[in-house]
Parts: sequence; structure tokens; C-alpha cells
Amino acid sequence: MSRSGFTTKAVQSGELRDTHMGSVVTPLFQASTFLYPNDDPTALTDRIRKEPYIYSRWNNPTTQSLELKYSAIEGSKFALGFSSGMAAIASSVLALTKKHKRILSVEELYGQTHGVFENLLPQMGIGVDFISIDRFNSLDFKGSGYDLVYTESVVNPTLRVSDISTVSKVCREQGVPLVVDATFSSPYNQRPLELGASVVIHSATKYISGHSDTIYGLASTDSESTFMEMQNLRRQLGSNPDPFQSFLVARGAKTLGLRMERHNINGMEIAKALSAEAKVKRVNYPGLESFIDHHVAERNLSGYGGMISFELEGGLEKAKKFVKHLKIPVIASSLGGVESLVSLPIETSHRSIDPKKRHEMGIGDGLIRFSTGIEDTEDLIADVQQALSAT
Ligand SMILES: Cc1ncc(COP(=O)(O)O)c(C=O)c1O
Repeated sequence: MSRSGFTTKAVQSGELRDTHMGSVVTPLFQASTFLYPNDDPTALTDRIRKEPYIYSRWNNPTTQSLELKYSAIEGSKFALGFSSGMAAIASSVLALTKKHKRILSVEELYGQTHGVFENLLPQMGIGVDFISIDRFNSLDFKGSGYDLVYTESVVNPTLRVSDISTVSKVCREQGVPLVVDATFSSPYNQRPLELGASVVIHSATKYISGHSDTIYGLASTDSESTFMEMQNLRRQLGSNPDPFQSFLVARGAKTLGLRMERHNINGMEIAKALSAEAKVKRVNYPGLESFIDHHVAERNLSGYGGMISFELEGGLEKAKKFVKHLKIPVIASSLGGVESLVSLPIETSHRSIDPKKRHEMGIGDGLIRFSTGIEDTEDLIADVQQALSAT
């Protein structure tokens, strides 16, 4: 399948077409345990252990089918499903570091990841140093003293873009793995391994599953030793996904390319419409030529995605009024679903971060995050315009 297009791979790869039962789609193997020993030479085998499945914390056929599908669209040799994006992050980072090791991370991270890096990892004897995305992109750091360099491909919620194609070269020269959380771009708009990263992580809760109905994580790499360490940790920590969640994510992933095409259009058109409004102070969107990282985005992304953030004249008070006047988007955290969602990061994703640090990260109190869904573009623009007029 490797030479097929994105959506052909998304639909066809990894499917367990069961000729015995005649099932066209991968069945849901909602089983904790499997016949053991199983001496049937035709039994389905776990790809990792190369013997029949034993126990679903180790692996499960529905989950492995999704892992193969995801690997095909990410262009990776190995992939693993996890119970959440956070489980994928924790399992990947712990697979590459041990006590007394050090991580260099971009400061502008998803709030919960920031919390793990700032509090949990140091308690385990793993040091974490933070640098701004500006320093990261201008190569103002020495990777050689570190065991892992970490960033997000498009940063939540400021939409700053990491220059993965440039930074990965330096990381490779200095022999340090670059780990990228590519949740915001999805494998449709960016495949970080192709840009030189060593490990890619997704909160598949977002674009990959795409329907706001499951929590899920995925991680992939081309390194067999990293993969084996990650799957070993997944088994030990129990950060494996439930088979039904794998089934839902696989179903969503089949339409990822189609959904992303609409998300890319909606993101761009709404960002442009917002930029034309006098009541809007600033719009963050990688596709706008005026955006600080537009040129970085051109080098690293093939589409600019559905995420926008913006500030209104009048700050938090006006932001709260504006979101209340919106009729289509639902006010909720999370992102990447078919339905538009809006949130105020200071009340949701970045609530736990110290306000001073939040401002340094570029998150003003009135910043509004807009996850544009796949609704009709004209409807969303009209809704944004009426909400602005009423604010
Ligand atoms: C960029 C990013 N990474 C990771 C996560 C964590 O993912 P999950 O909620 O699936 O654990 C999130 C959640 O919002 C996120 O936005």
C-alpha cells in the first residue's frame, strides 16, 4: 500500500478482513484474554511477539489493526495505540529517558504536558529545561547535553509553528532524538518523521478520531529499539487502549483526509474573515501571511489546519460575550472534531499555568481558541460576524 495516496491508505491499510466470518471491516475483539496455548497454525498473530494473541494489555487484534493503519498514513515503521494522548506522551518520554537524564523542551506546550515536564518528571529524577519556541526555531540551544528534545508541531493555543525540518537536522548531528507532538497538524498536514523527527505523538482524541467521542493516543517511530521500549512500558504501565476505543479511532481515521481538507479551508477562511474585522485585535493562524511563523509553516506543513486563536479589543470581558453569542460552535475544551468548538485557554487547557508564565507564552487573558469543525464555511463565517456585531 505504500505508494497509495493518503485516503486510500487510511481506508484500506491495516484492515483485518476476516474471510472466515466474511467481515469487511476489522471486527471489534472486545476480549481481555485469548486461548492459550493456541496451537492452531492459522491463528492470527500479534505482530510484536509473532505468536497468537494472549492478553489485551499486551496487544489486541483490533488495536493492532488501527496501529497498522496509522503507521501507513504517518509513514512510520512502528506504531502503538494508547489509552490517551497523555499516556502516549508519558510512555514515549519514559521510553527514551531514565533517572538522571535530561530533556530539553519548548516552553509553549499543552498545559498538562507542561505540568508533567515541570513537576512529575523532576520528581522521578529526570531533569527538564525549557526554552522558548523562538530560541528553538533559531537553533539557540545545545542539544548534545540532552537525551531528548521535545516540541509540539503547532503549539497550543498560540499556533506558533516548530521548525522541525531545520531543528531535526541539528538534533541528528548532535545524536539526540527529537520527539514531536503533532496533534494540531494531524498526519494529513504534517508527517514529522519525514521531516527528520525520531518519535511522533498524537492525541488521537482530536483530529485522527475526529468525532469527539473517544480519548486515545498514538505514537510512532522508525526505531525498532525505541518501539520495543515503548511497548514494554505500555505493557508495564497498563497504558494500553481499550479495543472499542481502537475500533472508534480506526473508523474515524478512514475519513481523516476528507475532514482535514474541510478543516484547512474553514481555518483559512475564518482566519481571513476575522482579520478583516475592526473589533479583532490579533489573529493567530499559520496560513495568514501576516502570522509570525508563516514562513516556518510553509516549510513544515502541507495544510494550515482548522485551529485558530484570536484576541478581541476589550480583552477577557469581550471574549466571554463573544463566545456566548456564537450559535454554531459549542463552548467546550478539546479540538479536532467535526463540530466547531470554542474555548478560553485561561479557563481550560492552560488554567493550571502560572499567569506570568502564561503571558510569556503569548497567552493573553482574552485569547479565544477556535477549533473550526467541518460545518459549511459560509455558515461559520456568518455566525462569527453576527457574534462580533452583538459583542
Ligand atoms: C497538543 C495536545 N497534546 C496532548 C493532549 C493530551 O491528549 P489526551 O487528552 O488525549 O490525553 C492534548 C489535549 O488537549 C493536546 O491538545
